[in-house]
Amino acid sequence: MPEKPRVLFAREQDLDAAEFRRVLVDSGLGAWRPVDDLPRLADMIANANLVVTARLDDAANANPLVGVARSVTDWSWCAYLSDLAVSKTAQGLGVGRGLIDETRRVLGPRVSLYLFSVPDAAGFYESIGMARFADAFWFRRER
Ligand SMILES: CC(C)(COP(=O)(O)OP(=O)(O)OC[C@H]1O[C@@H](n2cnc3c(N)ncnc32)[C@H](O)[C@@H]1OP(=O)(O)O)[C@@H](O)C(=O)NCCC(=O)NCCS
Repeated sequence: MPEKPRVLFAREQDLDAAEFRRVLVDSGLGAWRPVDDLPRLADMIANANLVVTARLDDAANANPLVGVARSVTDWSWCAYLSDLAVSKTAQGLGVGRGLIDETRRVLGPRVSLYLFSVPDAAGFYESIGMARFADAFWFRRER
């Protein structure tokens, strides 16, 4: 059985928008994100204050990016995890769980983490112990 690749988790506020785009596309989340609008993706990275990445520990290949967790937070009470994406080739290896663990570690115990799940990922959030919140509300963006 091949060994599980080592994955490096880090905060990367200056993540390149094209790299972010590639993971969105490779994960499947690109179907719900503006992957044809690179300047908007660049704004999403530049104005998010907590961007955590997962990279394969493979320096010979520039430590390829395999996962991203992009959140906005006040560092004191709440954080919204807007995008969690793991490239298909790296799914099922604990990368998604690791990205959320690292996000929570950086936020610390005083900060709640919230998100909306796409239908296919709800089982993942349940399996890592997140609670469902029935009375969530939003105004949907218009474009
Ligand atoms: C959902 C996603 C982030 C999960 O990341 P991942 O690295 O594949 O998941 P992990 O390997 O960390 O899995 C952790 C646990 O969740 C389980 N799990 C993973 N995906 C699951 C799913 N879709 N449904 C149910 N359980 C799931 C795993 O079996 C594992 O359980 P275990 O600890 O008992 O073995 C990833 O599959 C992904 O990027 N999917 C496409 C994009 C997406 O849906 N993003 C979320 C948007 S809200």
